[in-house]
Amino acid sequence: MKPILSKVNKLKVLYTSAEVYPFAGIGGLGQVAYFLTKALVKEGVDARIFLPKYGRIDEKKYPLEMLYEGIEVSAGEDKKIICNIKQLARDNLDSPVVYFIENMEFYEKRSNVYGYNDDHIRFLLLSLGLIEFLKISEWTPDVINCADWHTGHIPNLLKTKYVDNPKLKKIATVFSIHNLMHQGLFDHKKVPDLDFDNGKSDIAELFDPTLQKQNFMRRGIMFSDILTTVSEKYSKEILTPDYGECLDHLLREVRTKLIGILNGIDYTYMNPETDTNILVNYNSKTSTKRQQNKVDLQKEFDLEVKDVPILAMVTRLDAQKGLDLVSQIIDSLLIEYDVQMVIIGGGDSQFIGFFSELENRYKKRVGTHLMPDFLLPKKVFSGADIILIPSKFEPCGITQMEAMRYGCVPVARNTGGLADSITDFDAKTGEGNGFLFDNYNSYALFGAIVRAIENYNKPDVWRKIVESGMNTDFSWENSAKKYISVYKRAMGLRKGMGGQDDINELFYQIG
Ligand code: GLC
Repeated sequence: MKPILSKVNKLKVLYTSAEVYPFAGIGGLGQVAYFLTKALVKEGVDARIFLPKYGRIDEKKYPLEMLYEGIEVSAGEDKKIICNIKQLARDNLDSPVVYFIENMEFYEKRSNVYGYNDDHIRFLLLSLGLIEFLKISEWTPDVINCADWHTGHIPNLLKTKYVDNPKLKKIATVFSIHNLMHQGLFDHKKVPDLDFDNGKSDIAELFDPTLQKQNFMRRGIMFSDILTTVSEKYSKEILTPDYGECLDHLLREVRTKLIGILNGIDYTYMNPETDTNILVNYNSKTSTKRQQNKVDLQKEFDLEVKDVPILAMVTRLDAQKGLDLVSQIIDSLLIEYDVQMVIIGGGDSQFIGFFSELENRYKKRVGTHLMPDFLLPKKVFSGADIILIPSKFEPCGITQMEAMRYGCVPVARNTGGLADSITDFDAKTGEGNGFLFDNYNSYALFGAIVRAIENYNKPDVWRKIVESGMNTDFSWENSAKKYISVYKRAMGLRKGMGGQDDINELFYQIG
């Protein structure tokens, strides 16, 4: 029974990330930052967002109000960096409060989120600026949820430099690992032994050259109260040398504070019943209408209009995504089977070259859009039959959930969040919403694709698989509730109460 405490404070959470959709969304991380926060707000949490105001963020589209002008961030000795804090003008109280840190040199003049050789400075500035903001802000979060290496110095600062600050010392930190592979400008694999960062030294000043050798990810892992990853399976995988990216030893040491929570997807934004970006709307009971979207997709990509399985990839073109396996089998697949292929995504120039060449060789059968796009994927999910996700590792993966919601069946590697969200189809029971393969090799991928194509050719079986995917619940609600209990546990740990949810329940009433 919930205690009767109607005038209790709301749980206050500040989510901070280098990228946040829709202001500066690059990949899954940006989506999680926004949609998780939105789901938390819906659950009654006072959840807010903090990110840099990059040059690409258009103030005409997103009107901002100045909150604090001329905040000083120390850059060592007498140097200071001046920043402003702006807030998104809200027209809707259901959406989270969003704070932007503004600085001409490090954010405004850069239109991109990542990819500059002073990213270590830009992102330490994000952490330091966030702390300066909290020092003067009337609003103080109970928990800061930091995401990935860019914000790894926040838990470190709070547990060392600010450990006695009366205001800041109460704030608990949750550090979320979205991708362990990226640890800072130099991860452990790239740094010579002499420069190895054990995480215990002081944080280098902003312009100190040793800063770029500090492992921001390691520090986030070490100093946070609670550590999360974006699926349960990945939270176990990263304890092994195969997935641990040289941090597995540390992660094994701190495993008692490590929790895996599968990401969700936004069911309003991703809804085939109401989506205006697709030709024909449908739901799991009317999934055969997808046929019309398939024709639309074939026209869009200049493919022959015919009833053959369309295989799709919607992905960052990055080695993580198993593109080497695809490149090894794609010719055999296109020669031996009457299938079509659509590929969407930007990234590595080597893969861009490979797929555009493939498109030239297989005119009318292969279509590509080799740059990131937010709307085309919806057309693909609503018209293609199979989505390929053969990732080497996949902390969560969002495309498989989005694709399933639109009735596009995944063929994916049995790893990380793919394993946690896809149930391999079992011909005996007729259960399952996709096709999984275990070993990271092209034969295993080829076998799984053939298994999917064979079932595609049995329309009744296939319809059941499509429907099963469409009916699997990937809404954020479940995950948001799990985050709330993690936040409470982090607060409990901070207060030295052993993180007992029920004790905190006396103080906080959610929803
Ligand atoms: C990273 C991971 C991906 C995950 C996303 C959001 O991009 O590589 O698997 O879905 O973060 O958590």
